[in-house]
Amino acid sequence: MILKKNATMKISTLEHLISALKLGQYDEVLTQSFDLVIPLEELQPYISWNPNRYTRNCIARNEDFELILLCWEKGQKTAIHCHNDQECWVKVIRGDFEECLYEYDEAMNLMSYTKTDQVSQNQVTIIDDKDIYHTLENISQGRSISLHLYMKPILECGVFNQKTNQLETKTLAYDTLEGEEV
Ligand code: SIN
Repeated sequence: MILKKNATMKISTLEHLISALKLGQYDEVLTQSFDLVIPLEELQPYISWNPNRYTRNCIARNEDFELILLCWEKGQKTAIHCHNDQECWVKVIRGDFEECLYEYDEAMNLMSYTKTDQVSQNQVTIIDDKDIYHTLENISQGRSISLHLYMKPILECGVFNQKTNQLETKTLAYDTLEGEEV
């Protein structure tokens, strides 16, 4: 798929989405993301499951962006974490999630809960503030799937340890690497 720089086209497939990201058309992707419906069959090669934790599956990445598919068994959730200053866009492909938002005061080493939202199929949630931390939990009665875009790959992130009340650094890994460097 060849897209001209600044061309606006309707993004309706995974191939369109990756092409737009390769061209740096992030604003266009964000504008269209609310209506975007990627057919599940196109995401099939990136789906994997683990009974003990949600899986992270790489669809496409380069030095400017990272597009990954997360697959969640019922009840699986993240720790309270940030995105290392990168803007994060999450599109729910299937299921329902609860997102809890927190604000971190570095000077006080204080993590404060702000609010809880529900994000459901086809909805989008965006985190673009470096002091905002969040959790995501699959609250569906079965498996859920979400598509995550980071506006620079995230190799590690800050995770808040609720037992010690300390921030820790977690290295992020993939469960499957079907996706290529693009
Ligand atoms: C992750 O990338 O493992 C966490 C999901 C997210 O908050 O985007």
